[in-house]
Amino acid sequence: MDEETAMAQFEDRLNDKTVRVGVIGLGYVGLPLVHVFWQAGLHTVGFDVDPGKIEKLAKGETYIKHFAADNVRVMNASGRFSATADFALLADVDAVLICVPTPLMGKREPDLTYVVATTEMIARHLHRDMLVVLESTTYPGTTTEVVQPILETSGLKIGSDVLLAFSPEREDPGSGYETRKIPKIVGGTDERSGSAAEKLYALAFAEVHRVRDTQTAEAVKITENIFRAVNIALVNELKVAYTKMGINVWDVIDAAKTKPFGFMPFYPGPGLGGHCIPIDPFYLSWRARQFDVETRFIELAGEVNQAMPQLVVDRLAGALTAHAGKTLKDADILVMGVAYKKNVDDLRESPALRIMELIKDAGGRVAFHDPYIPEILPTREHPSLRGMKSIAFDEATVSKFDAALITTDHGNVDYASLVSWSRLLVDTRNATKNVHRGRAKIVSA
Ligand SMILES: NC(=O)c1ccc[n+]([C@@H]2O[C@H](COP(=O)([O-])OP(=O)(O)OC[C@H]3O[C@@H](n4cnc5c(N)ncnc54)[C@H](O)[C@@H]3O)[C@@H](O)[C@H]2O)c1
Repeated sequence: MDEETAMAQFEDRLNDKTVRVGVIGLGYVGLPLVHVFWQAGLHTVGFDVDPGKIEKLAKGETYIKHFAADNVRVMNASGRFSATADFALLADVDAVLICVPTPLMGKREPDLTYVVATTEMIARHLHRDMLVVLESTTYPGTTTEVVQPILETSGLKIGSDVLLAFSPEREDPGSGYETRKIPKIVGGTDERSGSAAEKLYALAFAEVHRVRDTQTAEAVKITENIFRAVNIALVNELKVAYTKMGINVWDVIDAAKTKPFGFMPFYPGPGLGGHCIPIDPFYLSWRARQFDVETRFIELAGEVNQAMPQLVVDRLAGALTAHAGKTLKDADILVMGVAYKKNVDDLRESPALRIMELIKDAGGRVAFHDPYIPEILPTREHPSLRGMKSIAFDEATVSKFDAALITTDHGNVDYASLVSWSRLLVDTRNATKNVHRGRAKIVSA
């Protein structure tokens, strides 16, 4: 089949919506993404190297709190979705979207191991007229400098034989935003690739915004995350300054956001968490260094945000002394919420874990309650917390602690009861703002 015919067939499949979509990496991003294409009426295949996930999906179960098992069951029953660890099935899909992790290595350098392994796998099963889209967050240049050369080891050429694009994932787990309604950014390595990717996403997403190339699309995502990291650092710094002045930073932000222009609210907290904001900005710093550019805002924001857990623990220690004449040593502290943000079951990079370690380092005893996290499963970084289980949330349990510390403001916690049962409550999230009784026990941190 010549190249024009292959492309024409791909276009036909796009036009009559018979295009088959594969998603590699069925995590927080990939599973909702495959669902969006399935909802659009397309045939979908999910790929993952984790047999546990494939097994659960086959049984109609979910492993992501905000992705209902019902979705899985309905997808399975439709006959238009299957999940597999068999990458030979890539031969049956027309478009494949890569949603694998992009963490940092020890020295804050991009770790593209997962992207490289996945691309090598695709290269083995690449077929003419296939569209490959990288969705994982990464530095500008990854698609053309890392993914493209690996795909071309197949002997097929990008732009003529196969198509390649970047489309950043903009998922915000737990926020309630419907994935398909979040506008999709798309950039291709060439005109054909960009156009095919734009048409594919338009089948499933309410709005697609095409940019000139893959580098621009990569930069869009990283810019969004740097914007958040820098602004969160700014309000964290303001919180420290205002607290010393006796001013409540949340009252200030609530009032400032009444301005209909020129201000966007960001909220302070116990530090940054999650797979994106603490990590992605350093992808750009690393890349900028290759161009002899220093990204000082990013470094500064990193420093301010990383200092927050220690500041929270200092504030907790100060509050214990002021309210109970105690020090952290031998104190019993209940940490409320270990997920990195509200209403998610995701522990990655959570500042609560660092805070718990710091309390232990200071000689305190620590327990936690989190309605979304029953147990702290093994992670590389926090060996001393492994296996800890969420304890009960009732008066008898909570009142035994010298202090409770709110690190995550989950929506399903009864904060009025927490205040009434606690001897002292340190609130890093302003979660108790609507509780009127017992305010003397609350310290904002
Ligand atoms: N979680 C978020 O809120 C979010 C938001 C926007 C962007 N992102 C970006 O999306 C990407 C994926 O993040 P995530 O949160 O979904 O990660 P995740 O860890 O939840 O999921 C990744 C999945 O990829 C699988 N995987 C790893 N290597 C694989 C391979 N070689 N082949 C097939 N599957 C493989 C893992 O088993 C896992 O199921 C990252 O680049 C992240 O920065 C995440």
